[in-house]
Amino acid sequence: MRALLSRRPGGPETLELDEIPEPAAGAGQVRVAVRACGVNFPDLLIIQDLYQVKPPRPFAPGGEISGIVDALGTGVEGLRVGDRVLMSPVQGGMAQKVVGSAGNCWRIPDAMPFDDAAALLLTYGTSQHALTDRAQLKSGETLLVLGAAGGVGLAAVDLGKAMGARVVAAASTEAKLALAREHGADESVQYPAGTLDKAAARALTDHFKSVCGANGAQVIFDPVGGDYTEAALRAIGWQGRYLVVGFTAGIPKLPLNLTLLKSCQIIGVFWGEFIARQPRQHATHVAALMALYLEGRIKPAVTEHFPLQRGMDAIARLGARDARGKIVVMID
Ligand SMILES: NC(=O)c1ccc[n+]([C@@H]2O[C@H](COP(=O)([O-])OP(=O)(O)OC[C@H]3O[C@@H](n4cnc5c(N)ncnc54)[C@H](OP(=O)(O)O)[C@@H]3O)[C@@H](O)[C@H]2O)c1
Repeated sequence: MRALLSRRPGGPETLELDEIPEPAAGAGQVRVAVRACGVNFPDLLIIQDLYQVKPPRPFAPGGEISGIVDALGTGVEGLRVGDRVLMSPVQGGMAQKVVGSAGNCWRIPDAMPFDDAAALLLTYGTSQHALTDRAQLKSGETLLVLGAAGGVGLAAVDLGKAMGARVVAAASTEAKLALAREHGADESVQYPAGTLDKAAARALTDHFKSVCGANGAQVIFDPVGGDYTEAALRAIGWQGRYLVVGFTAGIPKLPLNLTLLKSCQIIGVFWGEFIARQPRQHATHVAALMALYLEGRIKPAVTEHFPLQRGMDAIARLGARDARGKIVVMID
């Protein structure tokens, strides 16, 4: 079978399309003939050895896929060969076939196309866990989302609206903000793309405050980090909740006095560990996400499709900060 392989640490240009033997489904595993593979920022990190998981080489990137069940390992119940499924998280998704744990393999509705299915769980699952379990976002609260047109960011916009929040979307370009508004964002704030000096950081805080309103943001969803974090934290409301989701702009350091002044919480979010530790709660979230999708209340924004042989270009789009919504690699 064909797979897009990382043979040495490096950027997307180091990936090579190659023939490798089909993997066998071990006990408790499912093998899926992959139709679509969602692209996520961790794909860019894992090939450079910058991610918390470091698989032995060669390996294919690709943490979430959809396709058709092709083989079942021993002990797998509730799935059959031929089922349309999504599997996430998984390792090695940019390949014609992949094996993964049956516990991470979910049947998808007939009405869900493969590209949407491959763009759903990693981002919406993360944002669902962040907004419900971690922040306990309530209807009517103001939710500020940074990186609001990225994968997890746009999912947070969609879910925030579905949960009845007033959503303020923040992103680096007008085109990205337009996508967030299409997904229901009530307000938008454009921030500079580069690093922020003191004056620019203060101006951004003032902009966040003016748009969030007198009570500030009750919940802030931050998959970006860097200089944006402190500027946003300074606009949080009394007893607000600040969700630490990712660091595409770098890992920030914060003056802790800011938390005292607002009596606020800084809350870590680690979806992969959550689903391993709380599989029942995760299953509840998956069912809720499928229902929201079928009701048309959430919709992954698949803005670009790439064939497998151009999977490296798809990952490079995220690294260049050019992606909007989700990019999906389609596999024959
Ligand atoms: N905590 C968890 O459990 C969990 C789960 C999934 C993902 N994550 C993390 O969440 C983050 C976002 O992942 P994603 O898949 O949603 O990524 P994505 O689709 O590429 O979106 C990331 C956003 O980051 C912003 N950004 C700021 N500086 C950037 C830079 N130098 N390069 C690229 N983008 C930059 C971009 O928006 P603007 O241009 O508008 O700033 C971009 O839209 C990653 O750090 C990922 O590892 C965490």
